[in-house]
Amino acid sequence: MSFTPPALPLDLSGRVVFVLGAGSAGPGWSIGRASSVTYARLGAHVCVADRDAASAEETTALIRAEGGTAETFVGDAADEADVVRLFGEARERFGTVDVLHHNVGIGKTGGPMETSAEDFDRIHAVNVRSLLLATRQVLPGMVERGRGAIVAISSIAGMRYLGYPHLAYGVTKAAVTQFTRMVAQQYAAQGVRANTVVPGLIDTPRIATTVAKMFSDTSLEEAKAARARQVPVGRMGTAWDVAHACAFLASDAAAYVTGTELLVDGGITGKFV
Ligand SMILES: NC(=O)c1ccc[n+]([C@@H]2O[C@H](COP(=O)([O-])OP(=O)(O)OC[C@H]3O[C@@H](n4cnc5c(N)ncnc54)[C@H](O)[C@@H]3O)[C@@H](O)[C@H]2O)c1
Repeated sequence: MSFTPPALPLDLSGRVVFVLGAGSAGPGWSIGRASSVTYARLGAHVCVADRDAASAEETTALIRAEGGTAETFVGDAADEADVVRLFGEARERFGTVDVLHHNVGIGKTGGPMETSAEDFDRIHAVNVRSLLLATRQVLPGMVERGRGAIVAISSIAGMRYLGYPHLAYGVTKAAVTQFTRMVAQQYAAQGVRANTVVPGLIDTPRIATTVAKMFSDTSLEEAKAARARQVPVGRMGTAWDVAHACAFLASDAAAYVTGTELLVDGGITGKFV
Protein backbone atom coordinates (compact mmCIF):
# COMPACT_ATOMS: atom_id res chain seq x y z
CA MET A 1 0.00 0.00 0.00
CA SER A 2 1.46 3.37 -0.92
CA PHE A 3 0.43 6.74 0.34
CA THR A 4 1.27 9.97 -1.44
CA PRO A 5 0.75 12.92 0.87
CA PRO A 6 -1.01 15.81 -0.83
CA ALA A 7 0.99 18.89 -1.79
CA LEU A 8 0.19 22.02 0.20
CA PRO A 9 -2.63 23.61 -1.83
CA LEU A 10 -1.56 27.19 -1.16
CA ASP A 11 -2.81 28.17 -4.55
CA LEU A 12 -5.58 30.39 -5.88
CA SER A 13 -5.20 29.79 -9.61
CA GLY A 14 -8.29 30.97 -11.44
CA ARG A 15 -10.12 31.95 -8.24
CA VAL A 16 -11.77 35.36 -8.07
CA VAL A 17 -10.92 37.25 -4.89
CA PHE A 18 -12.81 40.41 -3.99
CA VAL A 19 -10.86 42.68 -1.63
CA LEU A 20 -13.13 45.32 -0.11
CA GLY A 21 -10.78 48.09 1.04
CA ALA A 22 -7.84 47.28 -1.23
CA GLY A 23 -6.34 50.76 -1.32
CA SER A 24 -4.18 52.37 1.32
CA ALA A 25 -4.50 55.32 3.69
CA GLY A 26 -1.11 56.57 2.49
CA PRO A 27 1.83 55.71 0.27
CA GLY A 28 3.15 52.22 0.90
CA TRP A 29 1.82 48.80 1.81
CA SER A 30 -1.51 48.62 3.58
CA ILE A 31 -2.99 45.27 4.56
CA GLY A 32 -5.52 45.36 1.71
CA ARG A 33 -2.87 46.23 -0.85
CA ALA A 34 -0.38 43.57 0.30
CA SER A 35 -3.19 41.00 0.45
CA SER A 36 -4.36 41.87 -3.07
CA VAL A 37 -0.84 41.45 -4.45
CA THR A 38 -0.42 38.19 -2.52
CA TYR A 39 -3.66 36.75 -3.89
CA ALA A 40 -2.60 37.67 -7.42
CA ARG A 41 0.81 36.03 -6.88
CA LEU A 42 -1.07 32.84 -6.01
CA GLY A 43 -2.91 33.02 -9.33
CA ALA A 44 -6.15 34.76 -8.33
CA HIS A 45 -8.04 37.33 -10.35
CA VAL A 46 -8.34 40.20 -7.91
CA CYS A 47 -11.22 42.67 -7.62
CA VAL A 48 -9.58 45.71 -6.08
CA ALA A 49 -12.38 47.69 -4.41
CA ASP A 50 -12.09 50.90 -2.44
CA ARG A 51 -13.80 54.26 -2.09
CA ASP A 52 -10.48 55.92 -2.95
CA ALA A 53 -10.17 55.46 -6.71
CA ALA A 54 -6.55 56.59 -7.03
CA SER A 55 -5.38 54.36 -4.23
CA ALA A 56 -7.24 51.36 -5.62
CA GLU A 57 -5.77 52.03 -9.07
CA GLU A 58 -2.32 51.95 -7.52
CA THR A 59 -2.96 48.47 -6.12
CA THR A 60 -4.29 47.29 -9.47
CA ALA A 61 -1.24 48.72 -11.25
CA LEU A 62 1.11 46.90 -8.85
CA ILE A 63 -0.61 43.59 -9.61
CA ARG A 64 -0.57 44.15 -13.36
CA ALA A 65 3.09 45.17 -13.25
CA GLU A 66 3.84 41.67 -11.89
CA GLY A 67 1.77 40.07 -14.65
CA GLY A 68 -1.29 39.43 -12.49
CA THR A 69 -4.97 40.05 -13.22
CA ALA A 70 -6.81 42.81 -11.38
CA GLU A 71 -9.62 45.26 -11.94
CA THR A 72 -10.50 48.37 -9.93
CA PHE A 73 -13.99 48.92 -8.52
CA VAL A 74 -14.85 52.18 -6.74
CA GLY A 75 -17.55 52.73 -4.14
CA ASP A 76 -18.49 53.13 -0.48
CA ALA A 77 -18.54 49.80 1.37
CA ALA A 78 -21.14 51.11 3.81
CA ASP A 79 -23.62 52.08 1.11
CA GLU A 80 -25.94 49.29 0.01
CA ALA A 81 -26.50 50.58 -3.53
CA ASP A 82 -22.75 50.95 -4.02
CA VAL A 83 -22.02 47.46 -2.70
CA VAL A 84 -24.67 45.88 -4.93
CA ARG A 85 -23.18 47.74 -7.90
CA LEU A 86 -19.57 46.84 -7.00
CA PHE A 87 -20.27 43.11 -6.83
CA GLY A 88 -22.47 43.30 -9.94
CA GLU A 89 -19.55 44.86 -11.82
CA ALA A 90 -17.18 42.23 -10.46
CA ARG A 91 -19.46 39.39 -11.58
CA GLU A 92 -19.78 41.01 -15.00
CA ARG A 93 -15.99 41.16 -15.30
CA PHE A 94 -15.02 37.81 -13.75
CA GLY A 95 -18.26 35.78 -13.64
CA THR A 96 -18.20 34.98 -9.94
CA VAL A 97 -16.57 35.69 -6.58
CA ASP A 98 -14.85 32.76 -4.85
CA VAL A 99 -13.28 34.65 -1.96
CA LEU A 100 -14.44 37.72 -0.09
CA HIS A 101 -11.69 39.52 1.80
CA HIS A 102 -13.39 42.13 3.95
CA ASN A 103 -10.71 44.67 4.77
CA VAL A 104 -12.36 48.05 5.31
CA GLY A 105 -11.93 49.48 8.76
CA ILE A 106 -12.04 52.93 10.26
CA GLY A 107 -11.86 54.22 13.82
CA LYS A 108 -11.74 57.26 16.02
CA THR A 109 -9.97 57.44 19.35
CA GLY A 110 -12.12 58.12 22.38
CA GLY A 111 -14.34 56.47 24.94
CA PRO A 112 -18.11 56.85 25.43
CA MET A 113 -17.94 60.56 26.26
CA GLU A 114 -15.80 61.38 23.24
CA THR A 115 -17.75 59.27 20.75
CA SER A 116 -20.89 60.87 19.35
CA ALA A 117 -23.78 58.69 18.24
CA GLU A 118 -23.09 59.87 14.67
CA ASP A 119 -19.43 58.80 14.86
CA PHE A 120 -20.45 55.47 16.32
CA ASP A 121 -23.01 54.86 13.58
CA ARG A 122 -20.55 55.72 10.81
CA ILE A 123 -17.81 53.49 12.24
CA HIS A 124 -20.31 50.67 12.65
CA ALA A 125 -21.57 51.19 9.11
CA VAL A 126 -18.08 51.04 7.58
CA ASN A 127 -16.73 48.23 9.77
CA VAL A 128 -19.76 45.96 10.26
CA ARG A 129 -22.71 46.94 8.05
CA SER A 130 -20.35 46.64 5.06
CA LEU A 131 -19.59 43.06 6.08
CA LEU A 132 -23.29 42.22 6.03
CA LEU A 133 -23.77 43.95 2.68
CA ALA A 134 -20.78 42.24 1.07
CA THR A 135 -21.56 38.83 2.54
CA ARG A 136 -25.10 39.05 1.16
CA GLN A 137 -23.60 39.62 -2.27
CA VAL A 138 -21.28 36.61 -2.27
CA LEU A 139 -23.16 33.90 -0.37
CA PRO A 140 -25.73 32.90 -3.02
CA GLY A 141 -23.02 32.19 -5.61
CA MET A 142 -20.84 30.36 -3.11
CA VAL A 143 -23.74 28.16 -2.01
CA GLU A 144 -24.65 27.45 -5.64
CA ARG A 145 -21.09 26.30 -6.37
CA GLY A 146 -20.71 24.58 -2.98
CA ARG A 147 -17.47 26.44 -2.40
CA GLY A 148 -16.34 29.79 -1.04
CA ALA A 149 -14.23 31.51 1.54
CA ILE A 150 -14.74 34.68 3.55
CA VAL A 151 -11.76 36.28 5.26
CA ALA A 152 -12.63 39.20 7.54
CA ILE A 153 -10.11 41.51 9.15
CA SER A 154 -10.71 42.22 12.81
CA SER A 155 -8.15 43.60 15.29
CA ILE A 156 -6.74 42.76 18.71
CA ALA A 157 -8.56 45.98 19.71
CA GLY A 158 -11.72 43.85 19.43
CA MET A 159 -10.37 41.57 22.18
CA ARG A 160 -8.30 43.77 24.49
CA TYR A 161 -8.02 47.36 25.76
CA LEU A 162 -4.84 48.55 24.06
CA GLY A 163 -3.94 51.25 26.58
CA TYR A 164 -5.96 54.09 25.15
CA PRO A 165 -9.70 54.50 24.47
CA HIS A 166 -10.75 53.39 21.00
CA LEU A 167 -14.28 52.36 21.86
CA ALA A 168 -16.20 52.32 18.59
CA TYR A 169 -13.33 50.65 16.77
CA GLY A 170 -12.93 47.91 19.38
CA VAL A 171 -16.65 47.21 19.63
CA THR A 172 -17.09 46.99 15.87
CA LYS A 173 -14.01 44.76 15.47
CA ALA A 174 -15.47 42.39 18.07
CA ALA A 175 -18.64 42.37 15.99
CA VAL A 176 -16.68 41.48 12.86
CA THR A 177 -15.35 38.38 14.61
CA GLN A 178 -18.73 37.21 15.88
CA PHE A 179 -20.44 37.93 12.55
CA THR A 180 -17.88 35.74 10.82
CA ARG A 181 -18.17 32.93 13.36
CA MET A 182 -21.94 32.85 12.92
CA VAL A 183 -21.80 32.80 9.12
CA ALA A 184 -19.23 30.00 9.33
CA GLN A 185 -21.57 27.84 11.41
CA GLN A 186 -24.63 28.46 9.28
CA TYR A 187 -22.91 27.79 5.95
CA ALA A 188 -20.30 25.14 6.80
CA ALA A 189 -22.34 22.28 5.37
CA GLN A 190 -22.75 24.19 2.11
CA GLY A 191 -19.02 24.47 1.49
CA VAL A 192 -18.53 28.06 2.59
CA ARG A 193 -15.75 28.75 5.08
CA ALA A 194 -15.54 32.01 7.05
CA ASN A 195 -12.65 33.04 9.26
CA THR A 196 -11.27 36.16 10.88
CA VAL A 197 -7.70 37.40 10.80
CA VAL A 198 -6.84 39.37 13.92
CA PRO A 199 -3.85 41.65 13.33
CA GLY A 200 -1.91 43.10 16.23
CA LEU A 201 0.28 46.20 15.92
CA ILE A 202 0.95 46.42 12.20
CA ASP A 203 3.18 49.01 10.53
CA THR A 204 0.94 50.30 7.74
CA PRO A 205 0.72 53.84 6.33
CA ARG A 206 -2.40 54.57 8.31
CA ILE A 207 -0.73 54.23 11.71
CA ALA A 208 1.14 57.45 10.97
CA THR A 209 -2.01 59.18 12.19
CA THR A 210 -3.31 56.73 14.79
CA VAL A 211 0.04 56.08 16.49
CA ALA A 212 0.92 59.75 16.45
CA LYS A 213 -2.23 60.35 18.51
CA MET A 214 -1.33 57.68 21.06
CA PHE A 215 2.16 59.05 21.67
CA SER A 216 1.54 62.73 20.95
CA ASP A 217 4.60 63.97 22.84
CA THR A 218 7.13 62.01 20.72
CA SER A 219 8.14 61.82 17.07
CA LEU A 220 6.51 59.23 14.84
CA GLU A 221 9.74 57.19 14.69
CA GLU A 222 10.04 57.14 18.49
CA ALA A 223 6.36 56.25 18.75
CA LYS A 224 6.82 53.38 16.33
CA ALA A 225 9.84 52.13 18.28
CA ALA A 226 7.82 52.26 21.50
CA ARG A 227 5.07 50.28 19.80
CA ALA A 228 7.56 47.70 18.56
CA ARG A 229 8.99 47.24 22.07
CA GLN A 230 5.55 46.20 23.32
CA VAL A 231 5.55 43.13 21.07
CA PRO A 232 7.19 39.86 22.26
CA VAL A 233 8.87 39.25 18.88
CA GLY A 234 10.35 42.76 19.11
CA ARG A 235 8.82 44.38 16.07
CA MET A 236 5.54 45.55 14.64
CA GLY A 237 4.00 43.32 12.02
CA THR A 238 4.13 44.15 8.33
CA ALA A 239 1.19 44.18 5.96
CA TRP A 240 2.75 41.05 4.43
CA ASP A 241 2.61 39.17 7.72
CA VAL A 242 -1.14 39.71 7.67
CA ALA A 243 -1.51 39.09 3.93
CA HIS A 244 0.15 35.68 4.19
CA ALA A 245 -2.26 34.60 6.92
CA CYS A 246 -5.16 35.77 4.75
CA ALA A 247 -3.83 33.83 1.77
CA PHE A 248 -3.73 30.66 3.84
CA LEU A 249 -7.33 31.08 5.00
CA ALA A 250 -8.54 31.97 1.49
CA SER A 251 -6.94 28.90 -0.08
CA ASP A 252 -7.72 25.20 0.07
CA ALA A 253 -4.74 24.85 2.41
CA ALA A 254 -7.30 25.90 5.04
CA ALA A 255 -10.00 23.52 3.78
CA TYR A 256 -10.71 22.26 7.32
CA VAL A 257 -10.48 25.68 8.99
CA THR A 258 -13.69 27.57 9.54
CA GLY A 259 -15.31 29.72 12.21
CA THR A 260 -12.05 30.63 13.84
CA GLU A 261 -9.70 33.54 14.47
CA LEU A 262 -6.08 33.63 13.38
CA LEU A 263 -4.05 36.01 15.53
CA VAL A 264 -1.22 37.71 13.63
CA ASP A 265 0.18 39.70 16.52
CA GLY A 266 3.78 38.69 17.28
CA GLY A 267 2.53 37.19 20.56
CA ILE A 268 1.25 40.42 22.12
CA THR A 269 -2.24 39.18 22.95
CA GLY A 270 -0.84 36.41 25.13
CA LYS A 271 1.24 38.80 27.18
CA PHE A 272 0.36 39.71 30.77
CA VAL A 273 1.27 43.40 30.45
N1 LIG B 1 -2.64 48.75 10.83
C1 LIG B 1 -2.89 48.11 11.96
O1 LIG B 1 -2.12 48.19 12.94
C2 LIG B 1 -4.11 47.25 12.08
C3 LIG B 1 -4.24 46.44 13.20
C4 LIG B 1 -5.36 45.65 13.33
C5 LIG B 1 -6.34 45.66 12.37
N2 LIG B 1 -6.22 46.46 11.28
C6 LIG B 1 -7.30 46.42 10.30
O2 LIG B 1 -6.79 46.05 9.04
C7 LIG B 1 -7.53 46.68 7.99
C8 LIG B 1 -6.60 47.46 7.11
O3 LIG B 1 -5.83 48.33 7.87
P1 LIG B 1 -4.72 49.29 7.23
O4 LIG B 1 -3.88 49.76 8.33
O5 LIG B 1 -4.10 48.64 6.07
O6 LIG B 1 -5.69 50.52 6.82
P2 LIG B 1 -5.93 51.43 5.54
O7 LIG B 1 -6.74 52.57 6.06
O8 LIG B 1 -4.65 51.74 4.83
O9 LIG B 1 -6.81 50.52 4.57
C9 LIG B 1 -8.20 50.52 4.58
C10 LIG B 1 -8.71 50.82 3.19
O10 LIG B 1 -10.13 50.81 3.28
C11 LIG B 1 -10.65 51.90 2.53
N3 LIG B 1 -11.94 52.29 3.06
C12 LIG B 1 -12.21 52.85 4.26
N4 LIG B 1 -13.53 53.10 4.36
C13 LIG B 1 -14.09 52.68 3.20
C14 LIG B 1 -15.42 52.65 2.72
N5 LIG B 1 -16.44 53.14 3.42
N6 LIG B 1 -15.65 52.12 1.49
C15 LIG B 1 -14.63 51.64 0.75
N7 LIG B 1 -13.35 51.64 1.15
C16 LIG B 1 -13.09 52.15 2.37
C17 LIG B 1 -9.62 53.00 2.67
O11 LIG B 1 -9.72 53.94 1.60
C18 LIG B 1 -8.31 52.22 2.67
O12 LIG B 1 -7.79 52.10 1.35
C19 LIG B 1 -8.58 47.55 8.70
O13 LIG B 1 -9.78 46.83 8.83
C20 LIG B 1 -7.96 47.77 10.07
O14 LIG B 1 -8.93 48.06 11.02
C21 LIG B 1 -5.13 47.25 11.11
